[in-house]
Amino acid sequence: MATVTKIMARPQVHQTECFIGGQWLPAASGKTFETIHPATEEVIAQVAEGDAEDVDQAVAAARAQFDHGEWSRMDARDRGRLMQKLADLLEDEADALAALETLDNGKPIRDAKAADIPLVIDCIRYYAGWADKIQGQTIPVRGDYFCYTRREPVGVVGQIIPWNFPALMTAWKWGPALAAGCTIVMKPAEQTPLTCLRMARLAQKAGIPDGVINVVPGYGPTAGAAIVKHPGVDKVAFTGELATAQIIQREAAATMKRLTFELGGKSPNIVFADADLDAAAAGAHFAIYFNQGQCCCAGSRLFVEDTIHDELVDRLQQQNRKLRLGDPFDPETEQGPQIDQAQFDKILKYVEYGKQDGARCVSGGVRHGDTGYYIEPTLFTEVTDDMRIARDEIFGPVLSVLKFSDVDELARRANDTNFGLAAAVWTRDIGKAHRLAHRLRAGTVWVNCYDVFDAGAPFGGFKQSGLGRELGEAGLAAYTESKTVTVAMG
Ligand code: NAI
Ligand code: MG
Repeated sequence: MATVTKIMARPQVHQTECFIGGQWLPAASGKTFETIHPATEEVIAQVAEGDAEDVDQAVAAARAQFDHGEWSRMDARDRGRLMQKLADLLEDEADALAALETLDNGKPIRDAKAADIPLVIDCIRYYAGWADKIQGQTIPVRGDYFCYTRREPVGVVGQIIPWNFPALMTAWKWGPALAAGCTIVMKPAEQTPLTCLRMARLAQKAGIPDGVINVVPGYGPTAGAAIVKHPGVDKVAFTGELATAQIIQREAAATMKRLTFELGGKSPNIVFADADLDAAAAGAHFAIYFNQGQCCCAGSRLFVEDTIHDELVDRLQQQNRKLRLGDPFDPETEQGPQIDQAQFDKILKYVEYGKQDGARCVSGGVRHGDTGYYIEPTLFTEVTDDMRIARDEIFGPVLSVLKFSDVDELARRANDTNFGLAAAVWTRDIGKAHRLAHRLRAGTVWVNCYDVFDAGAPFGGFKQSGLGRELGEAGLAAYTESKTVTVAMG
């Protein structure tokens, strides 16, 4: 009997307008932009194209709520309870949200269901638990004084996110901001505004007061830049590319905004000959090809000890042959399309660079099918450290394999990059793993695993991969100001 694959139904799109002060509003200019389904290039919806005027209104709503509203003053435990309610509503709608993410982003429904949305819910729940645990210290100062610190919300926060994990990046940004008592003006990526808008609707339904969360969909240089320049915004949290972060850092200097950045990477994934090869091969494959290679922490430089190089490459090729590319709504599909034409073109340009620079393309390197932005999983061997495919973030399903023999030399090469987001080490020698983990200049090091995320574990970059940390207690601290109160007791 033939097996019948149950293709998930396409979800309905409900929210497409700006969400400002609890109201759903068209852009002040009346403009809209299209968002497309990357697997078919079909237009899904017209979305309000917010710009400076809408940002002004959103900041006014967030400001009014922060300065005079109930959110930052309510009992912290009640704030946590409203966040738990939001998590419950997200959980009730988990399947529909996963489908909406797949529609807007093109990622396989199996990933949206197994990874993105569960992590969204977990992140909101984790930070809900922090709301009433944000504590200061008492300080033993000289003299007859009682000195203590308070952690207060930083204020109105501007949050600008990319398209690779639209709902999850929304949760990473909202979780700590809400727990701390901040109010929010968010701009989702122009490629993927839909899940963020849906989450705003659920936040409203949960009873989070109007003006706490405001969402202005639109483009970076207009809506995004207006958030960054606005004097009413106290902090900007940004995830995206380094060049954009550099613009934001310059623009934000005028108003001394607090900044956190989560940027790109060229993360080294290191496999020693004494590793469990089955686990390492599967892990190395997942590290680069998960989410179509569109991960800031993708393991895009695979360093393999020379004695096992051919064996590992062979296993990776076999896995590439088996990888199922196709309709992201098919639950069997493992790889979907890239997000858009620009990313598709960029990736194929890097495939050309790889060939020009003398690397060997041993699998993929070409478009898959003729509709949608699909690229076959691509594997380069004979890559050297100076090649463009070994240095630049490609943000696609392109793996560069590099050989090593000496561990000191390896550590130097792994660190020879301006990035420093993540790294991984595969070995059965636990001492070697720890020693190398300490030498690698990266914000996260995985040992015998990859892409293991938890809302409690801080994530962020060394060097040009970012500024500050998200998730965990460190992620929460970035949404607070410390205030010192000193009281004369004499
Ligand atoms: P991007 O940095 O331009 O976009 C990210 C967000 O910033 C979007 O919401 C965008 O509208 C906004 N933005 C753009 N220009 C802005 C400005 N002047 N002021 C304020 N906001 C602005 O990234 P893009 O163009 O989508 O992707 C380009 C490359 O960046 C990718 O190929 C990849 O290498 C990298 N990237 C890294 C990500 C990460 O998670 N670290 C995520 C997305 C992209
Ligand atoms: Mg850009």
